[in-house]
Parts: sequence; C-alpha cells; structure tokens
Amino acid sequence: MELPFAESWKIKMIEPIRKSTREEREQWLKEAHYNVFQLKAEQVYIDLLTDSGTGAMSDRQWSEMMLGDESYAGATSFYKLEAMIKRLFGMSYVIPTHQGRAAENVLFSYLVKEGNVIPGNAHFDTTKGHIESRHAHAVDVTTNDAKDTQLEVPFKGNVSLEKLEKVLAENKGNVPFMVLTVTNNTVGGQPVSMENIRQTCKLCHRYGVPVVMDSARFAENAYFIKTREKGYADKTIKEIALEMYADADAATMSAKKDGVVNMGGFIATRREEWYEGAKLFCIPFEGYVTYGGMNGRDMNALAQGLDENTEFDMLETRIRQVEYLAKRLDEFGIPYQRPAGGHAIFVDADKVLTHVPKEQFPAQTLTCELYLEAGIRACEIGYMLADRDPVTRENRFGGLDLLRMAIPRRVYTNNHMDVIAVALKNVYDRREQITTGVEIEWEAPLMRHFTVKLRRV
Ligand code: F0G
Repeated sequence: MELPFAESWKIKMIEPIRKSTREEREQWLKEAHYNVFQLKAEQVYIDLLTDSGTGAMSDRQWSEMMLGDESYAGATSFYKLEAMIKRLFGMSYVIPTHQGRAAENVLFSYLVKEGNVIPGNAHFDTTKGHIESRHAHAVDVTTNDAKDTQLEVPFKGNVSLEKLEKVLAENKGNVPFMVLTVTNNTVGGQPVSMENIRQTCKLCHRYGVPVVMDSARFAENAYFIKTREKGYADKTIKEIALEMYADADAATMSAKKDGVVNMGGFIATRREEWYEGAKLFCIPFEGYVTYGGMNGRDMNALAQGLDENTEFDMLETRIRQVEYLAKRLDEFGIPYQRPAGGHAIFVDADKVLTHVPKEQFPAQTLTCELYLEAGIRACEIGYMLADRDPVTRENRFGGLDLLRMAIPRRVYTNNHMDVIAVALKNVYDRREQITTGVEIEWEAPLMRHFTVKLRRV
C-alpha cells in the first residue's frame, strides 16, 4: 500500500487556542461593528484572516534570531539577506523595508508621478492605494478566466496580453512600470505561468516599460510552475524562481508570506538608477539602507526562511493542505475559486448568499456568518475591499465578491481544516434563510475595509 502524504516537519512548540459560545460571538461581533478586523485575536478560534506574518518559524529561523547583527550600518545580517535574495532573484541591489507596502511606498515614491497609468494583474489593495494616493491610475489587466470562479484552468492569475498591450499603446510615455503579482492574490492566490511572465516582460520591454514583480508569494507560484507547466517538473524551486525573475526589472516583497517571518520586506532591482533613486526615500521613511525597517535578527530569520521555503517539500506540505480544505468543500458542494489557490480558498459569496443584494455586501455577510458559526475569522475580498471609485465615489461592484480563508504557514493541522469545512457547510445549509446583509455606518476614504463600521440590515 502506498504511504499517505504527511507534513515535511514535526511540531516543537504549541500555542493554546480557545473556543467560545455563540452568545459570546454575537456580542463580540456586534461590538466589532460586524467588521472582523475589529475583533480581538483572543475572540477567535481559528484565524484565517491572513497568511501574512502569521506563519510559524522553524527551529533554524529561531536560532538565526540569536545570531542577528544589530549594527546600525553594514550588519552581517544585511549581507546574509542580500546574498540570499541575489541567489533567488538574480538582482544585485537590495533594500530591506519593514513590510511589503513599505517597499511599495519607497519604490513608488521614486517612480510614480501624478497622472501615470500603471497596469497590473489585479494590484493588491496596498499597491493600488500607493498608486491612487499619488493621483495615478491602476489598471487591471488580468485574464478574463479569473472572473469565472468555476472555470478550472491552471494559471488563472495570468496577465491578458491583449489588455496589457492596449494600455501600453494608449498611454505611451505615461507608464512608469507594470506590476506583475505572483501569485495573483486578489483573484484567489492563482499562479502566473512562466510563459506568461516571459511574454509579459517581452511586451512591456517592447514598449520601453519596466516590470516590477510583486513577489509576496513567489515561491508558491514557482511550485505551481513546477507541478503544472510543461518542462519544469525536473527543475528545483530555486532554479524556477531565478528564471521567473530573469527578465524583470525589480521586485517588491512582503516577506511576511513566502519569507515565513512575522514582519519584513524588501525591494530588489537590477537597475542601479532605481536603487539610487529609491535609497533617497528609504532613508527618511524606513531607515538606513542596510536595515531599512528591519532588525538584524529579523533579516537573519528572513534569509533562512527564504532558503527553506524555496524547497519543494516545504511548499508541497503547504499547498496540499490548502487542497485538502478544497476537497472537503467539494464534498459539500460549496463554490469557490477553482482550482484551489496557493495560500487560501476564496469562497464565491455571490453564489452562496444569492438572496443578499450586492448593496448589502454578500461576502462581508458570509464572513460574519462563519465567525458566528464557529469562531473562524476569514476576510472579505470583495465589494468592501474594492473601495469606491476615486472619481465617482460609487461602490465598485464590478469584480468578484469573495470570502477568503487564508491558511497560515505551518500553523494549523488538517483537523482544523475539517472544522473549517464543516462550519462553512453549516452556514451553506441555511443559506436560503440568510436574506439580508450589512450596511455601512461609517467608512474611511481609502482602504475602508480595515476600519469600516457596519450594521445588520
Ligand atoms: N502585495 C501582495 C500581493 C500582498 O498580498 C500584500 C499583503 C502586499 C503586497 C502588502 O504587503 O502586508 O507586507 O505590507 N497582503 C496581505 C494579505 C495583507 O492579507 O493578503 P504587506
């Protein structure tokens, strides 16, 4: 008999978590204004809010923490991190930052001017925020495949080369760079193929436009290339990563995901002038260029995290857990963005809460229902997150309305996945009775989902 699949690690330290009663959760959610970002973590049983900064570090990473060099300038920890980034991305210039959005802030301060147009395969919300706050425009050029959650194709995160070319042709001289996000978080943690990366870079470069890769989940993307794309089965994840970046001009990284650290990020580039330009913003915003926003010990842990999380076994354990949850949802007929993504399952709330009008935010409503059911905190990646159009101030109802269940790296077991699946099934079974959603009481002008106050309709 073939041996079953199991994790490529064992557990050395645990953290207790606590269940709660439905009455407690009703009270807490009301106090949180039906916004799960406002809950206290101790009010949560299984936390799927994000896979960002929530992973468990390895014993090797913790031991690297003790070796951190906290010198202000030129710390050995910086050079260790720089060497690892050069090895994985093949880029010579590295600037550490305290997280991904800080990398965006530093690099975009140098590159983005008012009125610019910046195409991308579904910019993450902070990326879009850093573009729009500079009065520039983020234009989505993701393939239409991503819009049909039930369509099963291997690389749903891809760039539509037709859409991209149209933007490049119509905005000549006004596109400072293109953002290529791997994996494509917004459409479901869906990967981008090597072929599409290559073609995207080629097309951009034909128009003289550089490519910045938003790299938060680059290792998971490399795993999908290895397991789904012809010609890569025998390559290592590290070889694939290097090839993914071969034609790109720069990378911004939220190291809190595939770096498996709790805080950290960086910019990497092969363009000396970009490095010189970004440095000028790094120093006032983040700190001196050999630490950016990071401690020496954190740079050490990140170098180690990048090394181990670009090994196949580690990624296989990770992605197969997400797949396991997806298979449980399949048993119950719950619709989600297919196939399962790298870091999360995105439930298609529009198809679940069919009686809740879009003006009452179905995915946000489903997020509340899942929390009330079992103390599971997921998050909305839908109409609330989409914010309002900066010009018309209308809600943006054009995209997908999804409930994202992000799985932290190396934190929960498949027993937890079973709890999540059954909790969602219980909500799904009573979906016909859920006919009203939530409405906005108060919202911030930008990135409203973090602080929005809601009430039940
Ligand atoms: N880019 C992508 C693709 C992201 O998913 C994120 C963060 C960022 C950039 C910004 O990085 O948080 O380190 O400043 N995503 C988290 C999430 C917050 O939950 O998906 P950051």
